[in-house]
Amino acid sequence: MTSAIAPLVQLGRPDRTPKKMVSLTIDGHGLEVPEGTTILGACASLDIEIPTLCYLETLRPVNVCRLCVVEVEGARVLAPACSRLVEPDMTVHTASPRVRHSRKLVLELLASSVDLSTTAGMTELLESYDCRPERYGPPAPPAANRDAAIPGHHAAPDPAFAATVAQPVKIDNELYVRDYTKCVLCYKCVEACGPDHQNTFAIAVAGRGFDARISTELAVPLPDSACVYCGNCIAVCPTGALMAKDEHDLRAAGSWDPSSQQVTDTICPYCGVGCTLTLHVQDGDIVKATSPLENSITLGNLCVKGRFGWRFVQNRSAPRA
Ligand code: SF4
Ligand code: SF4
Ligand code: FES
Repeated sequence: MTSAIAPLVQLGRPDRTPKKMVSLTIDGHGLEVPEGTTILGACASLDIEIPTLCYLETLRPVNVCRLCVVEVEGARVLAPACSRLVEPDMTVHTASPRVRHSRKLVLELLASSVDLSTTAGMTELLESYDCRPERYGPPAPPAANRDAAIPGHHAAPDPAFAATVAQPVKIDNELYVRDYTKCVLCYKCVEACGPDHQNTFAIAVAGRGFDARISTELAVPLPDSACVYCGNCIAVCPTGALMAKDEHDLRAAGSWDPSSQQVTDTICPYCGVGCTLTLHVQDGDIVKATSPLENSITLGNLCVKGRFGWRFVQNRSAPRA
C-alpha cells in the first residue's frame, strides 16, 4: 500500500525510478503527474501558487504551519499540500472559501503573536487574505510576556492583549543573532541543524503549547552549545528570526539595502570540496554569503568558513564565535 504522505527522500539525489502517472483535477484543470508527487508539486506544474511557511524543497516536510492547506473533495479535513501526495482521481480546490478562511486564520494568529516584519512576502500575503490581526487586541507589553522570556514560567494571559512570543533578542556571539520574537516555529532550523543537513543537533523545540520555543540544550548561550556556526539554520529561516550579525547590525543602522546589492556566484576558496558561494556585496563590502538551494552539492548549506570566513577580503579581523 502506498502512503499518502510524502516519503523521506534522499535529499539532493534525483529519484530516477520509473513512475506510474496519476490523473487528478485541480481547480477544474485535469492533469497527470508521476505518483509520489505532492499536491504542492502538482499545483506548481499548473502555475498555481500555494503559500507555504514551513515547507522548503531541501527539507523533509514537517507540516506544522498549515498555511498550504487545500480542500480535497470527499475528505473530512483540509490537507497540507506540501506533504499530501496526489491520488488517482483526486479533486482538489486550492482557493475555496473554506481554504481561504483557514489560511486567513493561520496568518492572523501568526501576525498577532509574532513579529513578521522581516518575513519576505508577508505584507502582501496578509493583504491578499484581508487579514486583520489587530482584532485579537494590541500586542502584550514586554512585562506581560515574561512567561515567554522565562522558559517554564506560566503567567495567566491578559485578555486585553494578544499573547505574543516576544522575548529578548539573543546576541551571544559575533556571527549570528537569534530574535525569537520573530519565530513562527516552522522547525526548519531544527531540521537543518539536525537530521536533514548538519546532524549537529544544537537546537530543538523546548516547551509545549504556547510556551514552545526553539532552544539550545538547557537554554545555554550558543557558544556553550553544540553549535558549529555553519549558519545553515540562518539559511532556511523564513522570518529573519535567525540572522547573520552583519545583516542584523546593518538593519539596525538603517543601511541594509538588498536592492543595491550585487550578487555573485563564486567558489569557496577554503577547501577542495569547492562549494558554490553566493556573495552579496553592498557598497564594496561582502555583507552576506549564501549558497544556492538548487546546488546539488551544497543544497544551500555551507560550513563556518564559507558562511562567515570572508572578512579577510575587507581586511577586517576574523570574528570569534
Ligand atoms: S549554526 Fe549550524 S550548528 Fe549552529 S544551530 Fe545553526 S545549523 Fe546548528
Ligand atoms: S528560528 Fe526561524 S527557522 Fe527556526 S523555527 Fe523559528 S522561524 Fe523557523
Ligand atoms: S507549508 Fe505545508 S504545512 Fe507548512
